[in-house]
Amino acid sequence: MNNKANILTTAELFDNTFVNVEPLVIPNFADLLKKKIKVLNNYGGVGGNRKRWQNVEVTMVEQNAEIAEQYQKFYPEDTVIVGDAHQYLLEHFAEFQIKWGSPPCPTHSKINYSLKGQGIYRYPDMKLYEEIIFLQHFDTELWVIENVQPYYKPLVEGKKIGRHLFWSNFKITDYDAKYKIESDTGRKPIIREAQIPELLKLHGLEDFKIKNKRQVLRNCVFPELGLHVFNCALAELRQRQPELFYEDTSKIAV
Ligand SMILES: C[S@@+](CC[C@H](N)C(=O)[O-])C[C@H]1O[C@@H](n2cnc3c(N)ncnc32)[C@H](O)[C@@H]1O
Repeated sequence: MNNKANILTTAELFDNTFVNVEPLVIPNFADLLKKKIKVLNNYGGVGGNRKRWQNVEVTMVEQNAEIAEQYQKFYPEDTVIVGDAHQYLLEHFAEFQIKWGSPPCPTHSKINYSLKGQGIYRYPDMKLYEEIIFLQHFDTELWVIENVQPYYKPLVEGKKIGRHLFWSNFKITDYDAKYKIESDTGRKPIIREAQIPELLKLHGLEDFKIKNKRQVLRNCVFPELGLHVFNCALAELRQRQPELFYEDTSKIAV
Protein backbone atom coordinates (compact mmCIF):
# COMPACT_ATOMS: atom_id res chain seq x y z
CA MET A 1 0.00 0.00 0.00
CA ASN A 2 2.93 2.28 -0.62
CA ASN A 3 2.00 3.23 -4.18
CA LYS A 4 2.34 6.76 -5.37
CA ALA A 5 -0.58 9.08 -4.57
CA ASN A 6 -2.20 6.40 -2.44
CA ILE A 7 -3.38 4.50 -5.49
CA LEU A 8 -4.04 0.86 -4.76
CA THR A 9 -3.87 -2.06 -7.10
CA THR A 10 -7.13 -3.99 -7.30
CA ALA A 11 -5.59 -6.80 -5.25
CA GLU A 12 -4.66 -4.35 -2.51
CA LEU A 13 -8.03 -2.72 -2.74
CA PHE A 14 -9.80 -6.02 -2.25
CA ASP A 15 -7.64 -6.72 0.79
CA ASN A 16 -8.12 -3.34 2.29
CA THR A 17 -10.99 -3.85 4.69
CA PHE A 18 -9.78 -1.82 7.61
CA VAL A 19 -11.56 1.33 8.56
CA ASN A 20 -8.72 3.25 10.05
CA VAL A 21 -6.88 3.76 6.78
CA GLU A 22 -6.83 7.20 5.19
CA PRO A 23 -9.44 7.74 2.47
CA LEU A 24 -7.76 6.51 -0.69
CA VAL A 25 -7.93 7.31 -4.35
CA ILE A 26 -9.35 3.97 -5.34
CA PRO A 27 -8.72 2.78 -8.85
CA ASN A 28 -12.01 1.23 -9.69
CA PHE A 29 -13.81 0.67 -12.94
CA ALA A 30 -16.11 3.59 -12.17
CA ASP A 31 -13.14 5.86 -12.90
CA LEU A 32 -13.23 4.65 -16.49
CA LEU A 33 -16.93 5.13 -17.14
CA LYS A 34 -17.63 7.61 -19.93
CA LYS A 35 -20.92 8.63 -18.35
CA LYS A 36 -22.90 7.85 -15.23
CA ILE A 37 -24.66 4.54 -15.17
CA LYS A 38 -28.16 3.94 -13.85
CA VAL A 39 -28.27 1.97 -10.62
CA LEU A 40 -31.19 0.80 -8.50
CA ASN A 41 -30.41 0.62 -4.80
CA ASN A 42 -33.40 -1.34 -3.54
CA TYR A 43 -34.17 -1.60 0.19
CA GLY A 44 -31.54 1.13 0.55
CA GLY A 45 -31.57 1.82 4.30
CA VAL A 46 -29.20 4.71 5.03
CA GLY A 47 -26.95 3.55 2.23
CA GLY A 48 -23.90 1.79 3.70
CA ASN A 49 -23.47 -0.26 0.51
CA ARG A 50 -23.79 2.86 -1.67
CA LYS A 51 -21.28 5.06 0.13
CA ARG A 52 -18.28 4.42 -2.14
CA TRP A 53 -20.06 4.21 -5.49
CA GLN A 54 -19.06 6.83 -8.07
CA ASN A 55 -20.25 7.82 -11.52
CA VAL A 56 -23.73 6.59 -10.75
CA GLU A 57 -27.24 7.90 -11.14
CA VAL A 58 -28.94 6.11 -8.27
CA THR A 59 -32.61 5.49 -7.54
CA MET A 60 -33.10 4.28 -3.99
CA VAL A 61 -36.28 2.64 -2.68
CA GLU A 62 -36.98 2.38 1.04
CA GLN A 63 -40.32 1.96 2.78
CA ASN A 64 -39.44 3.66 6.07
CA ALA A 65 -39.85 7.41 5.47
CA GLU A 66 -37.53 8.41 8.30
CA ILE A 67 -34.73 6.18 7.02
CA ALA A 68 -35.32 7.37 3.46
CA GLU A 69 -35.07 10.98 4.62
CA GLN A 70 -31.73 10.28 6.24
CA TYR A 71 -30.48 8.51 3.12
CA GLN A 72 -31.43 11.61 1.09
CA LYS A 73 -29.35 13.76 3.44
CA PHE A 74 -26.35 11.50 2.89
CA TYR A 75 -26.89 11.29 -0.88
CA PRO A 76 -28.69 14.47 -2.01
CA GLU A 77 -28.21 13.67 -5.69
CA ASP A 78 -29.89 10.28 -5.56
CA THR A 79 -33.57 9.87 -6.40
CA VAL A 80 -35.28 8.58 -3.27
CA ILE A 81 -38.59 6.75 -3.43
CA VAL A 82 -40.51 5.90 -0.28
CA GLY A 83 -42.34 2.74 -1.20
CA ASP A 84 -42.30 -1.00 -1.59
CA ALA A 85 -39.01 -2.15 -3.09
CA HIS A 86 -40.37 -5.60 -3.96
CA GLN A 87 -43.07 -4.17 -6.21
CA TYR A 88 -40.75 -1.48 -7.56
CA LEU A 89 -38.29 -4.12 -8.74
CA LEU A 90 -40.98 -5.95 -10.67
CA GLU A 91 -42.19 -2.81 -12.40
CA HIS A 92 -38.87 -1.05 -13.05
CA PHE A 93 -36.04 -3.60 -13.17
CA ALA A 94 -35.44 -3.09 -16.89
CA GLU A 95 -34.66 0.61 -16.43
CA PHE A 96 -31.36 0.08 -14.62
CA GLN A 97 -27.94 -1.16 -15.72
CA ILE A 98 -27.10 -2.45 -12.25
CA LYS A 99 -29.51 -3.40 -9.46
CA TRP A 100 -28.60 -3.98 -5.82
CA GLY A 101 -31.27 -5.33 -3.45
CA SER A 102 -30.94 -5.82 0.31
CA PRO A 103 -34.29 -7.32 1.34
CA PRO A 104 -34.88 -7.55 5.10
CA CYS A 105 -32.89 -10.32 6.74
CA PRO A 106 -34.52 -10.96 10.18
CA THR A 107 -36.59 -13.96 9.10
CA HIS A 108 -33.54 -15.63 7.51
CA SER A 109 -30.90 -14.93 10.14
CA LYS A 110 -29.52 -17.37 12.72
CA ILE A 111 -31.19 -15.24 15.39
CA ASN A 112 -34.34 -17.28 14.70
CA TYR A 113 -32.75 -20.15 16.63
CA SER A 114 -32.53 -18.07 19.78
CA LEU A 115 -36.02 -16.64 19.26
CA LYS A 116 -37.45 -20.12 19.43
CA GLY A 117 -36.31 -20.19 23.08
CA GLN A 118 -38.71 -17.27 23.63
CA GLY A 119 -41.54 -19.09 21.85
CA ILE A 120 -41.23 -16.87 18.76
CA TYR A 121 -41.61 -18.67 15.45
CA ARG A 122 -41.88 -17.12 12.01
CA TYR A 123 -41.66 -18.19 8.41
CA PRO A 124 -38.66 -17.15 6.34
CA ASP A 125 -39.83 -14.39 4.01
CA MET A 126 -39.82 -15.91 0.54
CA LYS A 127 -39.75 -12.51 -1.16
CA LEU A 128 -35.98 -12.93 -1.04
CA TYR A 129 -36.17 -15.96 -3.33
CA GLU A 130 -38.96 -14.45 -5.41
CA GLU A 131 -36.58 -11.66 -6.34
CA ILE A 132 -33.59 -13.96 -6.98
CA ILE A 133 -35.57 -16.35 -9.17
CA PHE A 134 -37.30 -13.53 -11.01
CA LEU A 135 -34.02 -11.73 -11.76
CA GLN A 136 -32.27 -14.97 -12.74
CA HIS A 137 -34.86 -15.57 -15.41
CA PHE A 138 -35.98 -12.19 -16.64
CA ASP A 139 -33.21 -9.65 -16.08
CA THR A 140 -30.63 -9.40 -18.83
CA GLU A 141 -28.81 -6.51 -17.13
CA LEU A 142 -26.70 -6.87 -13.97
CA TRP A 143 -28.10 -7.53 -10.53
CA VAL A 144 -27.10 -8.56 -7.02
CA ILE A 145 -29.23 -9.46 -4.02
CA GLU A 146 -27.63 -9.32 -0.59
CA ASN A 147 -28.78 -10.96 2.62
CA VAL A 148 -27.36 -12.64 5.71
CA GLN A 149 -26.13 -16.19 5.78
CA PRO A 150 -29.36 -17.95 6.68
CA TYR A 151 -30.05 -20.49 9.42
CA TYR A 152 -31.03 -23.04 6.74
CA LYS A 153 -29.28 -24.29 3.61
CA PRO A 154 -29.93 -21.53 1.07
CA LEU A 155 -32.51 -22.51 -1.52
CA VAL A 156 -30.31 -20.94 -4.18
CA GLU A 157 -26.54 -21.11 -3.85
CA GLY A 158 -24.87 -17.75 -3.26
CA LYS A 159 -21.46 -16.23 -2.64
CA LYS A 160 -20.47 -16.02 1.02
CA ILE A 161 -18.61 -12.96 2.21
CA GLY A 162 -18.31 -12.35 5.94
CA ARG A 163 -21.79 -12.42 7.45
CA HIS A 164 -23.40 -11.88 4.03
CA LEU A 165 -24.63 -14.06 1.21
CA PHE A 166 -24.80 -12.55 -2.28
CA TRP A 167 -26.69 -13.81 -5.30
CA SER A 168 -25.76 -12.18 -8.59
CA ASN A 169 -25.45 -12.72 -12.32
CA PHE A 170 -21.83 -11.55 -12.32
CA LYS A 171 -18.79 -12.99 -10.60
CA ILE A 172 -18.12 -11.62 -7.14
CA THR A 173 -14.50 -12.25 -6.24
CA ASP A 174 -13.34 -13.15 -2.75
CA TYR A 175 -13.14 -10.43 -0.19
CA ASP A 176 -11.57 -10.65 3.22
CA ALA A 177 -14.31 -9.12 5.33
CA LYS A 178 -12.34 -8.26 8.42
CA TYR A 179 -14.08 -5.44 10.18
CA LYS A 180 -11.96 -3.54 12.59
CA ILE A 181 -14.37 -2.23 15.19
CA GLU A 182 -12.59 0.17 17.43
CA SER A 183 -13.72 -0.21 21.00
CA ASP A 184 -11.96 0.75 24.20
CA THR A 185 -14.33 -1.29 26.35
CA GLY A 186 -12.76 -4.65 25.61
CA ARG A 187 -16.01 -5.71 23.91
CA LYS A 188 -15.69 -8.29 21.16
CA PRO A 189 -14.94 -6.51 17.87
CA ILE A 190 -18.00 -7.87 16.07
CA ILE A 191 -20.95 -6.13 14.44
CA ARG A 192 -23.47 -7.83 16.73
CA GLU A 193 -21.93 -6.22 19.81
CA ALA A 194 -20.86 -2.89 18.33
CA GLN A 195 -22.37 0.30 19.73
CA ILE A 196 -23.52 3.39 17.83
CA PRO A 197 -20.25 5.38 17.88
CA GLU A 198 -18.30 2.32 16.78
CA LEU A 199 -20.75 1.60 13.97
CA LEU A 200 -20.69 5.21 12.77
CA LYS A 201 -16.92 5.08 12.69
CA LEU A 202 -16.88 1.70 11.00
CA HIS A 203 -19.11 2.89 8.17
CA GLY A 204 -17.58 6.37 8.02
CA LEU A 205 -20.99 7.97 8.51
CA GLU A 206 -21.73 11.27 10.20
CA ASP A 207 -23.97 11.03 13.23
CA PHE A 208 -27.70 11.43 12.63
CA LYS A 209 -30.98 11.21 14.51
CA ILE A 210 -33.32 8.32 13.87
CA LYS A 211 -35.36 5.75 15.76
CA ASN A 212 -33.55 2.44 16.28
CA LYS A 213 -30.29 4.00 15.13
CA ARG A 214 -28.15 1.10 16.27
CA GLN A 215 -30.25 -1.38 14.31
CA VAL A 216 -30.27 0.85 11.24
CA LEU A 217 -26.47 1.04 11.45
CA ARG A 218 -26.10 -2.68 12.00
CA ASN A 219 -28.12 -3.20 8.83
CA CYS A 220 -25.56 -1.28 6.80
CA VAL A 221 -23.30 -3.14 4.44
CA PHE A 222 -19.71 -2.09 5.07
CA PRO A 223 -19.01 0.57 2.41
CA GLU A 224 -15.77 -1.06 1.22
CA LEU A 225 -17.64 -4.30 0.64
CA GLY A 226 -20.38 -2.37 -1.19
CA LEU A 227 -17.65 -0.93 -3.40
CA HIS A 228 -16.05 -4.32 -3.97
CA VAL A 229 -19.31 -5.87 -5.15
CA PHE A 230 -20.14 -2.82 -7.27
CA ASN A 231 -16.70 -2.96 -8.85
CA CYS A 232 -17.24 -6.64 -9.69
CA ALA A 233 -20.49 -5.65 -11.45
CA LEU A 234 -18.61 -2.96 -13.38
CA ALA A 235 -15.98 -5.50 -14.41
CA GLU A 236 -18.74 -7.58 -15.98
CA LEU A 237 -20.35 -4.50 -17.55
CA ARG A 238 -16.99 -3.62 -19.10
CA GLN A 239 -16.78 -7.09 -20.62
CA ARG A 240 -20.26 -6.80 -22.04
CA GLN A 241 -20.20 -3.18 -23.14
CA PRO A 242 -16.61 -1.94 -23.47
CA GLU A 243 -17.91 1.12 -25.33
CA LEU A 244 -19.18 2.48 -22.00
CA PHE A 245 -15.63 2.71 -20.63
CA TYR A 246 -12.44 4.54 -21.49
CA GLU A 247 -9.68 2.15 -22.37
CA ASP A 248 -6.97 3.48 -20.09
CA THR A 249 -6.66 0.64 -17.63
CA SER A 250 -3.18 1.59 -16.48
CA LYS A 251 -4.40 2.16 -12.95
CA ILE A 252 -6.32 -1.09 -12.76
CA ALA A 253 -4.91 -4.56 -12.20
CA VAL A 254 -7.68 -6.86 -13.36
C1 LIG B 1 -30.81 -4.57 5.33
S1 LIG B 1 -31.48 -2.95 5.31
C2 LIG B 1 -30.61 -2.20 3.98
C3 LIG B 1 -29.19 -1.88 4.25
C4 LIG B 1 -28.50 -1.15 3.12
N1 LIG B 1 -28.33 -2.02 1.97
C5 LIG B 1 -27.16 -0.62 3.58
O1 LIG B 1 -26.12 -1.15 3.20
O2 LIG B 1 -27.14 0.36 4.35
C6 LIG B 1 -33.06 -3.23 4.64
C7 LIG B 1 -33.92 -1.99 4.52
O3 LIG B 1 -35.10 -2.32 3.80
C8 LIG B 1 -36.17 -1.59 4.33
N2 LIG B 1 -37.40 -2.32 3.91
C9 LIG B 1 -37.97 -3.40 4.47
N3 LIG B 1 -39.01 -3.83 3.71
C10 LIG B 1 -39.09 -2.99 2.65
C11 LIG B 1 -39.93 -2.91 1.52
N4 LIG B 1 -40.91 -3.79 1.31
N5 LIG B 1 -39.71 -1.93 0.63
C12 LIG B 1 -38.72 -1.02 0.82
N6 LIG B 1 -37.88 -1.05 1.85
C13 LIG B 1 -38.06 -2.02 2.77
C14 LIG B 1 -35.91 -1.53 5.81
O4 LIG B 1 -36.56 -0.40 6.40
C15 LIG B 1 -34.39 -1.42 5.85
O5 LIG B 1 -34.00 -0.06 5.93
